[in-house]
Amino acid sequence: MPLPMASPRADLVWLSDKVREFGIHVVANRGAGKSRFLGRYLAFSDFLREVPTIVFDNRHTIDNFLDKVSRLPEEQRKALWPRIRYIHLAGLGGYVVPLPLYYTLAPDEDPLTTADRFVEVILKTEPGFSRASIQGKTAIENIAQPMGVELIQRGWQLTELDRLTVKIPPTLKVKLNPLIHSETQRAIYGAAEPGIDWQEVIDKKQIVLIDYRQMRKPQFALVWILDYLLSFIEARGPDQSPISIIVDELKAFKAAQVAGDDIFFEFLDVLVNTTMRGHNLWLTLAHQSMMQFDERVGEVLMSMDTQIIGKAGSMRSAVAIAQELVKIDPYKIKRYRPTFGQESYFESMLDRLPAREYFVLHQEPVEFTPGDQIREEAYRFQKLPTFTFLLFVKDSEPKQFSIANLEPGIFPDQTVVPAIRQKLMQRDGRKIEDVLAEIAARTAAPVQAKETKEPSTAKKLPVSTKGTLP
Ligand SMILES: Nc1ncnc2c1ncn2[C@@H]1O[C@H](COP(=O)(O)OP(=O)(O)O)[C@@H](O)[C@H]1O
Ligand SMILES: [Mg+2]
Repeated sequence: MPLPMASPRADLVWLSDKVREFGIHVVANRGAGKSRFLGRYLAFSDFLREVPTIVFDNRHTIDNFLDKVSRLPEEQRKALWPRIRYIHLAGLGGYVVPLPLYYTLAPDEDPLTTADRFVEVILKTEPGFSRASIQGKTAIENIAQPMGVELIQRGWQLTELDRLTVKIPPTLKVKLNPLIHSETQRAIYGAAEPGIDWQEVIDKKQIVLIDYRQMRKPQFALVWILDYLLSFIEARGPDQSPISIIVDELKAFKAAQVAGDDIFFEFLDVLVNTTMRGHNLWLTLAHQSMMQFDERVGEVLMSMDTQIIGKAGSMRSAVAIAQELVKIDPYKIKRYRPTFGQESYFESMLDRLPAREYFVLHQEPVEFTPGDQIREEAYRFQKLPTFTFLLFVKDSEPKQFSIANLEPGIFPDQTVVPAIRQKLMQRDGRKIEDVLAEIAARTAAPVQAKETKEPSTAKKLPVSTKGTLP
């Protein structure tokens, strides 16, 4: 593999492949330079090294990456564009990258498996559902699974919900309707095929920039595309070539996983401790403050082998990080305290009363307490200048590095970058009207509505996410 060329500075940072397998946690206050580091350096390095890379971000990491590429000499740029994919989760300028709710990962996939992915995600992302009693949950599964199976067997998507004969209770409909509410939504979730094929991303060594800027409620879309990616990774099997996954603003995913911290903790715990390690994911998770998450989530994040710490936003966050990272030195000396010896002497022979003379007998060290040491380090985190980070890699000495001299004064061009994003959406996405026409064509032929038939009996029909009625 070619060496990374992203950094003109040899002293910047070098993270070995071995270390990447155990994850990077980046925490720094807003404005500290996280996105600049992730976009111009980390994502860019992975991309140049031809490691398939998936970036989740709501603006600055993506813009820094695209800006960086746009400033390369034309010859290089030309070679790189085909390897850059861009997906705006809300669509852009009349184009969408479809993410149908029913898609297959194997040609012979059981429709129930296909249907279940969507059911699992709505249960995770809809507050009303996850808090529902076990009974309520089962009830939802009992409806949403056969509903999905029937749609799949007919070659339909959720967009054809109203054509089904299965009765959907209003409580469930209220949750499903927003997904197919607008034309954009219908095109994204109702298309026959996903607009991104992860195997192709791997084969062509692409970078996929997943953007959710300016979305009022990116929750479902984010969790859905991540679920698509992780389902693919699971199906691909363990111990494969590395895939880099870079998440800027991890908080967005927590917001997505309902209010409940438990669900987010479980999600992250599985991602970091099972999926990442078993599937050779180079996972990078960035966010602003430890106070954004509960303690258990904090523990998972701090357990990642590489920690990149930038200017802390609050003392509490800084202390929480320091508590995990500072190696307490029980012998670290703060000062010496003299202990005194004394000796009796007689001022004169006339005065028989003894006086005392004191002298320093010994300098006794006073050690810093663990609390002192943690606080000292926490202050250091708070005082880090913009663009300066501390790098803690497991089993090696901490290092400080700065990205201040990495293309100083160069920031994402506000004319060029938006134009690139639009062009990429046009190149790889689909026109909303085309997808809608395709959806309309699916049901254009008059359909003999099935008599209220138990969907389970229809299970043996051929499976397809495309095509017309069986
Ligand atoms: N166009 C610009 N001109 C000058 N400074 C900028 C520009 N864009 C970003 N910056 C500065 O770059 C710094 C790093 O930004 P960024 O990497 O987005 O931080 P983070 O992701 O940690 O919030 C910020 O302090 C910001 O003020
Ligand atoms: Mg940022």
